[in-house]
Amino acid sequence: MHAPAVIGNALVILLILSFCNSVRTDNVHVSVKNRLGNGKNLTLHCQSKDTDLGEQNVIDGGEFGWDFSVNVWGSTLFYCDMGWDAVQEYHFDAYSFERDFARCETQCSWLVSGEGMYGLNGETGFWEFAYDWPS
Ligand SMILES: *[C@@H]1O[C@H](CO)[C@@H](O)[C@H](O)[C@H]1NC(C)=O
Repeated sequence: MHAPAVIGNALVILLILSFCNSVRTDNVHVSVKNRLGNGKNLTLHCQSKDTDLGEQNVIDGGEFGWDFSVNVWGSTLFYCDMGWDAVQEYHFDAYSFERDFARCETQCSWLVSGEGMYGLNGETGFWEFAYDWPS
């Protein structure tokens, strides 16, 4: 009577295959919106281990975004440095698979404002206050 075990193994293999498949084809879009106001430009430099998106000037009201697929190891990480007149250098993780695979599965939006930074929670559809500027 080995049938149940065989079915169990087949199920596990199926689950692993479908998991790898969805991870590989999932496309994520990350964007950083400048809502500082008063015509303030934001400089933004985002990169991952093997991609450097270069230093960008994001004008007031504008945004910078990019698309990528998360890696099968679940270790995808994009980190950014940004700054403007009041905060010269601020470092944050724009996308971290561990933190974001459920929070913003396909759309990770950030909004930079004078009082801090908001992140869009894709699960709830709400903008959440995420970071305070160091004072
Ligand atoms: C912001 O950037 C734009 C586009 O590069 C530039 O024309 C403008 O002068 C900049 N504004 C300030 C306040 O630096």
